[in-house]
Amino acid sequence: MTDTAVGIDAIEIHAGKLKLDLPETFAPAMGDDPGKYTEGLGLYASSLPDTYEDIVTMGANAAHRLMERKGLEPAHVGRIDVATESAFDHSKPVSTYIAGCLEQVFDGDFHHANKGERKFACVAGTQSIDDAYNWIRAGRHRGRAALVVATDTALYARDDPGEATQGAGAVAMLIDEDPDLVELSTEQGYGSADETDFLKPQQQFPSVDGKRSMAVYLARMREALVDYESVGGNIHPEDFRLGPFHTPFPGMVRKAGVLAYRHITRDTDIEAELADGIGRQPRPEAFDDDGAYMDALGEYTDALKETDRYREWYDDTIDPTLDLSREVGNWYTGSVHVARVSGLAALAEAGEAAAGERLLVGSYGSGAQAEIHVETVQDGWLEEIDALNVGYQLASRYDLSFPEYEDVHDAHNFDEETGVEEFTAPDGEFVFDGWGRMGERKYRYVE
Ligand code: HMG
Repeated sequence: MTDTAVGIDAIEIHAGKLKLDLPETFAPAMGDDPGKYTEGLGLYASSLPDTYEDIVTMGANAAHRLMERKGLEPAHVGRIDVATESAFDHSKPVSTYIAGCLEQVFDGDFHHANKGERKFACVAGTQSIDDAYNWIRAGRHRGRAALVVATDTALYARDDPGEATQGAGAVAMLIDEDPDLVELSTEQGYGSADETDFLKPQQQFPSVDGKRSMAVYLARMREALVDYESVGGNIHPEDFRLGPFHTPFPGMVRKAGVLAYRHITRDTDIEAELADGIGRQPRPEAFDDDGAYMDALGEYTDALKETDRYREWYDDTIDPTLDLSREVGNWYTGSVHVARVSGLAALAEAGEAAAGERLLVGSYGSGAQAEIHVETVQDGWLEEIDALNVGYQLASRYDLSFPEYEDVHDAHNFDEETGVEEFTAPDGEFVFDGWGRMGERKYRYVE
């Protein structure tokens, strides 16, 4: 077993190359007030895949950039795990397709690499990082690193309420010893239960009970927090610099943020300081029935949300993690990893010295499972974050009209035949190149 630090050495992001403007294009077409998107959900745009993009091309493009930037060859990578809930094959994992793409552009091959695919809705990206971490910690890696790719086309059926929260993109991460970005810790907390709130039973677009999914998110996150504290000790708000959480839409994290803050300030100096203004937190033993206790808790939470103390904490710790999500929507398995990048990019922009700071990371997948752990920012973090070109990618997206959006949605619906032309020209990237004789998808690198 290795004693050296293990964590995320590098991250690269590939955003779908099309943009659906939610307040300007989607809201008027749906007959909605734009405020529902910008203020209610906290979203301005969705990134969507062009007709030649899919989970393989987006994942391979992110991984290609990561390997080139870090000067890696296939021999350096001993494991490739893909997390996705948009897979198109029940047997052949997406990681084989991505390895096949990368072998088109790198010398050597990945025949030595253990490849797989992880599924548990959006939490699978974090689970793949766990698998890589355990593989390295167990000393089975022979000095090699693991490539983890979280890639999804998070599309909902037309007119489903979830359509407002769509997105598409991939996050490639290198898990290695002596990481440059963040070190992972061994303590983890889980909240996991058999829930029926969001699922894709042999279908392309999810069946969603949206309101229930939000309640389940909050319940499982709370369990994971309590479970984390049982092993990592009580959390105090000042213990960590950022709280990147799974972000299906920023409004969801806004709801989770105040509940988390209430939990981690109970029995602390902060609760005592706030008591003059809003009282102490209600305790169940002071109430005769659950209903009265829940009502009092709700009132306290509403008052807490309005305090300067809470607002400052939220603005410093949570809000910076939502910047990218506001512009890209939900990327399912990649979402919490986009939140980490977003928060660190905000610290870089502000010129903060973040090395040594801790992040409280909350991952979540419907069905349902939450996981909470702490990461420590490493000395090389600024160089890693500065190397990202995500701002350029987002600014270069093709801005769809509503009829074009309808065509693109159909083009990514496997049940429909469309002859939709591409909106952008591929440039130095992998593209979908048609079907093979056994129904496999084929890919090509375009110079
Ligand atoms: P909806 O019913 O269309 O929206 O669906 P709404 O009417 O509830 O409005 C949304 C918010 O906007 C509300 O805020 C409104 O008040 C507000 P809230 O009351 O909740 O704070 N609003 C406005 N604000 C300002 N000005 C206005 C205005 N109008 C309304 N004019 C829903 C919303 C999230 C349910 C839907 O989009 C949905 O079903 N999304 C998909 C499911 C989802 O994202 N669930 C989140 C938790 S589960 C999860 O995270 C897992 C997931 O990532 C999948 C996985 O794990 O694989 C989804």
